[in-house]
Amino acid sequence: MSSHSPLDNDPTAQDVNDDAPYKRIVNTFMKRRTHMNKKAEHALNHPEFARYLVNNGTGDGDLSGITDLRALFADTPNGSDAPLTLEIGFGLGDSFIEMAQAEPARNFVGIEVHEPGIGKCAYMADQHGLTNVKIINGDAIKLLQQLPENHIDRIQLYFPDPWQKKRHHKRRFVSPERMKIVTRALKSGGWFHTATDWEHYAFWMVEVLDDFEGLSNHAGRGNFTPRPDFRPMTKFEKRGIERGHGVWDLIYTKD
Ligand SMILES: C[S@@+](CC[C@H](N)C(=O)[O-])C[C@H]1O[C@@H](n2cnc3c(N)ncnc32)[C@H](O)[C@@H]1O
Repeated sequence: MSSHSPLDNDPTAQDVNDDAPYKRIVNTFMKRRTHMNKKAEHALNHPEFARYLVNNGTGDGDLSGITDLRALFADTPNGSDAPLTLEIGFGLGDSFIEMAQAEPARNFVGIEVHEPGIGKCAYMADQHGLTNVKIINGDAIKLLQQLPENHIDRIQLYFPDPWQKKRHHKRRFVSPERMKIVTRALKSGGWFHTATDWEHYAFWMVEVLDDFEGLSNHAGRGNFTPRPDFRPMTKFEKRGIERGHGVWDLIYTKD
């Protein structure tokens, strides 16, 4: 059956830069046009927030020149050698900022495409005076492709868009192609932590990740991990729970 969804003819589909360069993947996000609140707008437009906004937070998510996340912290109290977490798709950033506050000796980079969320996150980082946070506007897949190998200690992906319709499953972030890109940038011994409130995606994830060579499931093959204490509840998670959804966490170590 042919599809009439604009998502299926995504002009921004990109080539996967690996040993099968002809292979194309589509974006894992659909940019939403939602209201920008005053605080977010303020953060995106005032120079005192520039210390958080690696590529200004606005515009088209131009990632050129961002090839080393550690170097972003060179002039901060932690420096560039501190443990490094990358959060993909932090939404409005509440749980991301809570985690950064709870672990001041760890550096946190968040990447999002949703500008109101980027602005709000920068605003909160400033309110708490955080020095261990940097925010990037853009596609995490593109960013990961231009980072060095063995670069990041933890990559977290909380409540990624579930892309419920079968014809949109190719947009799911957790796929063998995208995990190849994720694990390349992860350090040996580093973690990939994900969680979802969508049951079909949960079982899809455990299958993809358990079968992915070079990753080991903390809970053992086929099993989920109870939500660890260090992961605060996210906005999407709360919404899912209110709708009666379950929550499934998965943590994998790179061999
Ligand atoms: C369902 S929301 C979850 C937000 C947040 N993690 C939470 O749990 O409340 C998924 C977010 O991931 C972002 N996203 C999806 N694919 C992305 C990508 N490739 N790079 C950066 N952000 C992405 C979307 O813009 C969206 O804000």
